[in-house]
Amino acid sequence: MAEFTLPKNSKIKKGRSFSAAKDAGKKRTFRVYRWDPDSGENPRVDSYEIDVEKCGPMILDALIYIKNDIDPTLTFRRSCREGICGSCSMNIGGTNTLACIKGIDEYKGDISVYPLPHMQVKKDLVPDMTHFYAQYASIKPWMQTQTPPPPDSERLQSKEDREKIDGLYECILCACCSTACPSYWWNSDRYLGPAVLLQAYRWIIDSRDENTGERLDDLEDPFRLYRCHTIMNCTNTCPKGLNPARSIAEIKKLLISRTM
Ligand code: SF4
Ligand code: SF4
Ligand code: FES
Repeated sequence: MAEFTLPKNSKIKKGRSFSAAKDAGKKRTFRVYRWDPDSGENPRVDSYEIDVEKCGPMILDALIYIKNDIDPTLTFRRSCREGICGSCSMNIGGTNTLACIKGIDEYKGDISVYPLPHMQVKKDLVPDMTHFYAQYASIKPWMQTQTPPPPDSERLQSKEDREKIDGLYECILCACCSTACPSYWWNSDRYLGPAVLLQAYRWIIDSRDENTGERLDDLEDPFRLYRCHTIMNCTNTCPKGLNPARSIAEIKKLLISRTM
């Protein structure tokens, strides 16, 4: 039987523990992945027991409280604090999601907080998004046209055509879906993954874009598109309630229809 073990320097050690004051109103414990590349030490999981009556109601509020009041070395990304920038994506309680829109009360017991899975970690909860963004750039995520726009007018769209990008333009590129996809885990060097394919479909289906054929040519590849095996983790995980698996299926249908 095959045996898989982590390399020695990747094994997670027991970390430090911080306790809340004895008179804390409502205690909750956050078990947070920590890794500092400059320390030369293995990753560890630190345990922070905090009084959640002293912070806001969301997981991100708890992390900000930990950083401000207990341990300033804790590193994570965040910006908007309202689910629109995609910065605070991480794995909370075993599921990829956005820390700013997940309530502490939605979790029972100790709450585990890890970086997005199967990404290189830069530090603590911060994954390296370089490759993900390069894949995004590869689908040319902007409108491409050959014909000039009508004089004195923008490129207009019917109401029906505009509705075709509903469920697509809302994607905030948080990467929760791609990093939940087993096909992406094993083939992210060549498979574009659900987030980038949803974005590709957003431009393919936009009636104003005039490079649909080239966009489809670019995706017709056993790895870039066809590594999707409809496992559906992506759709089940998306914190914005989007359906990347459907976008992938629609791209496949368009590719089949142009051969008929
Ligand atoms: S449906 Fe496709 S993209 Fe989504 S998780 Fe499954 S294999 Fe990955
Ligand atoms: S489809 Fe959802 S999970 Fe995937 S990147 Fe967009 S918002 Fe995030
Ligand atoms: S901080 Fe912007 S999505 Fe969470």
